[in-house]
Amino acid sequence: MQDIRSKTSEDFIMGLRISGNEMDPEGLSEDESLEAIEALAGGLDYVNVIAGNSSSTGGAIHIVPPMTVKNAYMAPFAAKVRKRIRIPVFVAGRINQPQEAEAVLSNGQADVCGMTRALISDPEMPNKAMQGRVDDIRACIGCNQACIGHFQMGLPISCIQNPQSGREIVFKNLKPASRSKRVMVVGGGPAGMKAAVTAAARGHDVTLFEAQERLGGQALLAQLLPGRAEFGGLVTNLLRELELSQVQVRKGVRVDRQLIEQLDPDAVIVATGARPFEPDMVRDGEIQVVNAWQVLQGDVAVGSSVLVTDWRSDWIGIGVAEQLARKGCSVRLAVNGRMAGETIPSYVRDHSIAALHRLGVPIIPYARLYGCDTDTVYLQHTASGEPMVIEGVDTLVLCHGHAPDMTLSEALDASSIHAYFIGDCLAPRTAEEAIYEAVKVASTL
Ligand SMILES: Cc1cc2nc3c(=O)[nH]c(=O)nc-3n(C[C@H](O)[C@H](O)[C@H](O)COP(=O)(O)OP(=O)(O)OC[C@H]3O[C@@H](n4cnc5c(N)ncnc54)[C@H](O)[C@@H]3O)c2cc1C
Ligand SMILES: Cc1cc2nc3c(=O)[nH]c(=O)nc-3n(C[C@H](O)[C@H](O)[C@H](O)COP(=O)(O)O)c2cc1C
Ligand code: SF4
Repeated sequence: MQDIRSKTSEDFIMGLRISGNEMDPEGLSEDESLEAIEALAGGLDYVNVIAGNSSSTGGAIHIVPPMTVKNAYMAPFAAKVRKRIRIPVFVAGRINQPQEAEAVLSNGQADVCGMTRALISDPEMPNKAMQGRVDDIRACIGCNQACIGHFQMGLPISCIQNPQSGREIVFKNLKPASRSKRVMVVGGGPAGMKAAVTAAARGHDVTLFEAQERLGGQALLAQLLPGRAEFGGLVTNLLRELELSQVQVRKGVRVDRQLIEQLDPDAVIVATGARPFEPDMVRDGEIQVVNAWQVLQGDVAVGSSVLVTDWRSDWIGIGVAEQLARKGCSVRLAVNGRMAGETIPSYVRDHSIAALHRLGVPIIPYARLYGCDTDTVYLQHTASGEPMVIEGVDTLVLCHGHAPDMTLSEALDASSIHAYFIGDCLAPRTAEEAIYEAVKVASTL
């Protein structure tokens, strides 16, 4: 610090970002951090406090804390720092709404709030807050997928809710359409909702059809996984975008070819999503076999000894295993991948893996489902090809990804209607691709 001061001008601002709690048994505790900050403050212009550390798995979760971590959770520590030093104190970590930042500031816990993902999710957030339009802010949901998740994969960062972010040259300031068309969007999941608002913003006359009485599609199920309620914010944000748009919404209407022919729109966007994939397996006996959707919707009562087979290694297998273990079931989790949660951002995965470890859920990797009988499930090791026999199972819960809903595409194949297919009905993936494809297609109409 002295060296920097000696080589810079008097008005050069120098601050320090420091972890207030490294969240690791061998890392700095809050008391040690406080002591260090106090010792260093005299030479600084500000201190910026966060949590975690990058040299341990448990600590790293806090570098970009996922939705399972409480909002503004480092503010109480910042308040302690503020009482001990005289320079401004910044705090960051899961402050995703101006109201939260305002509460931290007005409680005197910090002088400045850092908000990183809130601005990736909605770069207009400060302007909207200033204009009192807080309900219009597309709040970050802490999913970590396209921001730090992309970064960790070596990809340019973006946001699952805001695909324009990182693609500003292609998508920002979408031009009004040269001719206003009558657009029919089929399916009110993330893909359909985003396609509808994007097409309407370009001046098209858009109607969005949803078979259910509620918009949101699979995101309504995703929010039911333990600690994932904030994922539902994606639907809340899209509902607000719809409310502010000119889109006409028709719920409880299952669209078929006849309805499309009758309405005769200029363009059809199909976003009918996907259903649980039913794997092929040998079945001999009466073991209860259910899928993740049935468990999450509360449609089935599972037995006391459960095996969850997870073909995707994403949020669903680990989430369903955690949920059932919390309900008191004895749960085992068999994943096709090399580890549970292999395909999801590491900080999200590691938080869930820690929860499963605390709950005593054993994880069996490299496991392909082969079949089941009365109380035994047969797996195959994906590397050795050897059988793995799991005995004493009452219920087998299948988390085997999704199969596209092809009903409409098959019906339209035989007609002259041209339709654009987006999201999970094109290929089941995640909300990120669904929303990206929505913007991509709607920007070309
Ligand atoms: C439990 C669970 C957890 C998940 N967690 C995550 C996560 O953390 N992150 C992530 O990115 N993704 C997650 N996903 C996946 C994500 O939810 C989907 O990829 C995304 O919802 C796909 O969006 P979509 O709009 O293409 O399809 P869907 O969400 O499936 O929506 C399709 C909609 O179309 C409607 N529909 C179907 N046919 C018709 C018709 N003929 N007429 C009218 N309406 C029709 C359906 O009722 C439905 O509402 C999760 C999925 C599940 C099930
Ligand atoms: C894509 C991305 C890149 C980041 N890079 C850095 C970095 O280089 N240095 C750093 O101290 N923090 C970095 N962070 C962490 C943020 O500064 C911030 O502390 C963290 O995201 C928690 O705040 P938030 O909840 O407001 O996002 C990064 C976060 C994201 C999402
Ligand atoms: S990708 Fe998820 S965590 Fe990242 S900015 Fe967008 S909503 Fe927030």
